[in-house]
Amino acid sequence: MPERWGTRIGLIMALAGNAIGLGNFLRFPVQAVKNGGGAFMIPYFISLILLGIPLMWMECSLGRLGGQRGYHTTPGMLDSIWSHKISKYMGVLGIFIPFTILIYYSYITSWTLAFSFFSATGQYFGAQSREAMGAFLAGFQGKQANQYFTNLLSAYAFFIITLGITMFILSRGVARGIEILCSIGIPLLFLVGIVLAIRVLTFGTPDPTHPDWNPGQGLAYVWNPNFKALTSSSIWLAAAGQIFFTLSVGWGIIHTYTSYLQERDDVALTGLATASTNELAEVVLGSTIAIPAAVTFFGLAESQNIANGGAFDLGFQAMPIIFQRIFWGKFFGTLWFFLLFIAGLTSAVALGQSVMAFLQDELNISRTKATWILGIITFTLAQPVILFIDKGFLDEIDFWVGTLALVLFAVLEVIVYVWIFGIDKVRKEIGRGALISIPQIFYYILKYVTPVFLLGILLFWVIQDVPSKVLMVGIEPDARPYLWLARAMILALFLGFVWLVRIAWKKKYAG
Ligand code: ALA
Repeated sequence: MPERWGTRIGLIMALAGNAIGLGNFLRFPVQAVKNGGGAFMIPYFISLILLGIPLMWMECSLGRLGGQRGYHTTPGMLDSIWSHKISKYMGVLGIFIPFTILIYYSYITSWTLAFSFFSATGQYFGAQSREAMGAFLAGFQGKQANQYFTNLLSAYAFFIITLGITMFILSRGVARGIEILCSIGIPLLFLVGIVLAIRVLTFGTPDPTHPDWNPGQGLAYVWNPNFKALTSSSIWLAAAGQIFFTLSVGWGIIHTYTSYLQERDDVALTGLATASTNELAEVVLGSTIAIPAAVTFFGLAESQNIANGGAFDLGFQAMPIIFQRIFWGKFFGTLWFFLLFIAGLTSAVALGQSVMAFLQDELNISRTKATWILGIITFTLAQPVILFIDKGFLDEIDFWVGTLALVLFAVLEVIVYVWIFGIDKVRKEIGRGALISIPQIFYYILKYVTPVFLLGILLFWVIQDVPSKVLMVGIEPDARPYLWLARAMILALFLGFVWLVRIAWKKKYAG
């Protein structure tokens, strides 16, 4: 019996869980604050309409079509719509990306579980300055031994727990594992998010010497449109990159989820509902918690400094300081990190499921065995991520795979599905069983505007960011070998998957 989602609402919850992740609550606030608040939001919404939603529909329908043809991962899906020998290798990106991201994504998710625990026990209470909280985080991550942590024991403990939970859910399968997790997790996430947002909005003006520091100032920074910065290519790149990350498009994981649909199950409303739920979590909850909280306690200028300091400084340093200053701080701190944990876990299982599906379908490995293989390899490959975090190993993978490869894969998908398979067939696919009718203009966008926009992004990246990244500009000489190691790992993983696809296809046609 092929796997199927149990219920419609269960599928919507699972897809929402897939999309809503650390990107919504950690990455989005940092990107928004760093890139000028209201200046960021305009390219953000334009990218949502021109890239995010069309790509979501495209991937939902391609996934369902692939599922009908017996494929749950993108090598088979692309191969089945374009009988050229390169197509399955293009699809390799759709398993390579989720697997490589899973390696660090599950580790970061484990920090949220750890910090939820540390909030409940008050372990970081006392570290009241940014320096002190920075030292607490650095100690936990093993960047330095200090009065808070002398080794990586607790980081490893929480990582093993998080990976164990992820694998346990995957071992139960799509309907009995992922669907149950998300049907409980996503409503709970919204409930916790609303409680936190209300708490932040009622902060008032805690610092009488700075009457302008209040939640309203933080919200105004994000929501007052600023047209002056629209000519900055880096803001456009950041906004488009955020859309890719947050909606999980260009990853290969939306396809896998919708491949478990029936032939006439809707994908049009489902895709829109997924994108809308994700945006609700991102622009409503995501912008109402961390940003106004930071502005209320640190002021706007310092909040920008915090965001510029690093991807995790806002969530893991600034927020814990705030929890130490408010009534019931341990409770709200536990909730904040628990919110992040649910968001991270429901996305981590989506990343894992694509690889599981590949191992099961293409390599004929049983689900239980596949879970063990995935768990053990993920844990093993996470070692350099854990041990060389201070050398920038994680950031290196995140740039090449978690940012650039997503856009590249989306370009390849548009070429194969929209251009080669053909927009008329795509329209028919999206329309089959559709519960809403999609305005025709979206098909034009998907065929012409989306690819031009995507190529524009790639071009700007190649001109603006890639050369300095390749040449490691500004990287300390002692960190460089570690970044080369990260690149070697990325390449080895990609080639490894190419090889596996080759073997799988050889077997298929021999048998
Ligand atoms: N889309 C997921 C996130 O935002 C992976 O983290």
